[in-house]
Amino acid sequence: MDELFVVCRTFEIDDGQVSGFVLMRAEENGEPRPWPILISRKANQFFGFENACPHQGSRLDTRAGEFLDEEGNFITCGKHHAQFDLDTGHCFIGPCQGQRLTPIALVIDDGDVCLTGVRLAEEDGLDIPDPEEVPEVMITPD
Ligand code: FES
Repeated sequence: MDELFVVCRTFEIDDGQVSGFVLMRAEENGEPRPWPILISRKANQFFGFENACPHQGSRLDTRAGEFLDEEGNFITCGKHHAQFDLDTGHCFIGPCQGQRLTPIALVIDDGDVCLTGVRLAEEDGLDIPDPEEVPEVMITPD
């Protein structure tokens, strides 16, 4: 089985909420590259997506770490307000209607939300300048 990388604990994301993280992904040539992702929760299920709007590729949380629309029901793009389902990442309204967020495979392991099947840069924690103050995450091999 692929290595698991712990992103956060399950209790850190409430039902119906979305959290953003900036990980470091290893490029083909081994160079690290910041990789913003988001993890949403619906009941006891967790869903991972790349934090990039299919419309113009920009981060969805242009409003200071805020991912949800004003009613708090859907993931929304802060730029042009496309809205996406929390579980499928499907865009049902907005400029990218019919498209979807790029999914990321998650594994829940003993109360940890983990990534698998991706090549992350091995670092002792992450020290990424982050103008939008998305919570940083410590990557630890499981
Ligand atoms: S960049 Fe997200 S809706 Fe346009």
